[in-house]
Amino acid sequence: MWDALKARAEAARDRRIEDLLAEPGRMETFATTVGGLRLDFAKTNIDAETLQDLIGLLEATGVAEKREAMFTGQPINETEGRAVLHTALRNIDGGPVTVDGTDVMPGVLKTLDRMAEFAGAVRDGSFKGQGGKITDVINIGIGGSDLGPKMGAIALAPYHDGPRCHFVSNVDPADIADALRACDPATTLVIVASKTFTTIETMTNARTAKAWMGEAVNDTGAQFAALSSALDKTADFGIAPSRVFGFEDWVGGRYSMWGPIGLPLMIAVGPEAFRAFLRGGQAMDRHFRAAEWRENMPALMALVGIWHNQVCGYPTRAVLPYDNRLARLPAYLQQLEMESNGKGVTMEGAPVETSGPVVWGEPGTNGQHAFYQLIHQGTQVVPCEFLVAARGHEDDLHHQHLLLVANCLAQSEALMRGRTLDEAREKVAGKFEGAELERQAAHRVFPGNRPSVTLTYPQLTPEILGMIVALYEHRVFVEGAVLGINSYDQWGVELGKELATALGPVVESGDAQGKDASTAALVAVLKAHGL
Ligand code: F6P
Repeated sequence: MWDALKARAEAARDRRIEDLLAEPGRMETFATTVGGLRLDFAKTNIDAETLQDLIGLLEATGVAEKREAMFTGQPINETEGRAVLHTALRNIDGGPVTVDGTDVMPGVLKTLDRMAEFAGAVRDGSFKGQGGKITDVINIGIGGSDLGPKMGAIALAPYHDGPRCHFVSNVDPADIADALRACDPATTLVIVASKTFTTIETMTNARTAKAWMGEAVNDTGAQFAALSSALDKTADFGIAPSRVFGFEDWVGGRYSMWGPIGLPLMIAVGPEAFRAFLRGGQAMDRHFRAAEWRENMPALMALVGIWHNQVCGYPTRAVLPYDNRLARLPAYLQQLEMESNGKGVTMEGAPVETSGPVVWGEPGTNGQHAFYQLIHQGTQVVPCEFLVAARGHEDDLHHQHLLLVANCLAQSEALMRGRTLDEAREKVAGKFEGAELERQAAHRVFPGNRPSVTLTYPQLTPEILGMIVALYEHRVFVEGAVLGINSYDQWGVELGKELATALGPVVESGDAQGKDASTAALVAVLKAHGL
């Protein structure tokens, strides 16, 4: 099956995407819609037969069965013996979801209500700091305990009517110092977000925040809340159970923004907007679970990804939101996709030929003035994923939005069309001649035939954001399922953590005996500079 697909990729090398687009019916087959969200993957070099073969991959690898196992709480995270049920967190008006015979929904809904009650109290001032109404919230967390709520808070800025939100993640003291400097401890709520409540960066920053609070506030613990699965550890830290919002181990860190980890977002935009975000995710779940593969947006996105990465061998993909408030979406997706599918072995421990791609990106139009040069003329093909809304939230500046959209559409068109040598010659014909004309023209050639997909939506509302995030989550699931990867563990982060712990005393003392020559020299030079 893979060999057949690779043969198709080989045969497609000289085929132009523009020619595929000229075929009747292309837009019916190579676009799909869920609610207001539409995926256009017509500007890829996938033809009807290839799509059929790709769908065959889903069938051959049992993706439908695996999908059902996920939604029904089977322990599909086999290396950790856990279910994968972030979908339950947004199943707000769905039926029961059982894990080991127990319906988890009453607990999920109860926690959601508690979050709403607390967020409401912080927002309306009935929950107070020593100095009165809370003006600032500092969320301390890293990875999945930071990226989702931070990305969401930026994305939903037009809905932000709660206190200011600051996100501190890095153990670099600059991060927490900047946040603390911007806040008054007497009117600040500190949220410590950590599934395990052991992550060194988070716990170090949490202690720093506690000391800062302790200098100004009598009852330090009263202005702390915790989001965690480790309730014993939140108690040890001195946070009262009434301000602890727990979740189960079947919520993976990078899939957790739908539950307690979303609390700072809920405080920022309010419980109603947060519920709308959940409803968006739930709508995508329903679609993913029920739609035929040919219309199934996450499955089709996954197949496009597999075609580009595993079949064609393009090593990266760029996420390019023409929606400035999705500025942190690429960073969010880096964890979601690369921590999930950046694995060297299958579930059974056998080698994986090509794990998931490098994911990167920046909002348009900024990226156009930075790295698009390489995307258009570099020797590597970078499949691009554009996101664009029909409307922004700035009605009075809609004329600028039109320019934004024109740029987005122009980029995908330019990537596909390119510019031939003859066209380039025409461009410079009046200015140069002879050998110089040839030389100048060569620089203006664009190979074109570069693939992209485009996601469009009416406006970046909470519901649409929920759909987009759930779409990418399920896309990761499908890619992992086809590759036979466990998308829900992250053993690859362990070694660096262990070595960092061991290096703590070394950087403190400067005694690097037993370390490799390079590490020892790095320690020595940093010590010489005042470490
Ligand atoms: O870096 C590994 C990781 O475990 C991520 O998967 C997770 O999102 C992050 O650390 C933070 O973990 P925690 O929420 O337990 O502090």
